[in-house]
Amino acid sequence: MSRNKTLIMIKPTAVRKGFIGPIMAKINEGGFKIHAMKYTQLTLEQARAFYAVHKDRPFYGELTEFMSSGPIVAAILVKDNAVESWRNYIGATNPAEAAEGTIRKLYGTSLGENAVHGSDSDDNAEIEGSFFFSATERF
Ligand code: RTP
Ligand code: MG
Repeated sequence: MSRNKTLIMIKPTAVRKGFIGPIMAKINEGGFKIHAMKYTQLTLEQARAFYAVHKDRPFYGELTEFMSSGPIVAAILVKDNAVESWRNYIGATNPAEAAEGTIRKLYGTSLGENAVHGSDSDDNAEIEGSFFFSATERF
């Protein structure tokens, strides 16, 4: 995946609260185009694999249990400099510290339940995109 793509997720709490629509509207407003998208639920094993980079962190168990607790939306979004652009657009990891108008400020609940995910590098965007999507699911 090149510099113009990132893998995002709408996390379980945001889905449960009915925020898929509002977050999709923000995706459009922000100029991000959809390259791939699905509504799915991770098993605990899949969540542990997805977040393997955090396996030694104290929040790994809580994070992976939460991320497998209900359905999510996963998507590959396209925009110039997509990884950094999306991370700026969603705001700080902790919604309480996120800037006004960002997705995490608007739709996040807590540090753990912070509405959305975004890849943190182009290499991880490639890995995470392939975690969710096959070649025939990308347009
Ligand atoms: P994400 O991967 O979800 O886009 O978030 P991020 O890059 O801003 O944050 P990261 O450091 O990758 O952490 C992954 C997710 O773990 C939860 N977290 N909990 N309890 C804690 O101290 C703590 N720290 C991080 C957050 O939900 C974060 O999104
Ligand atoms: Mg991260």
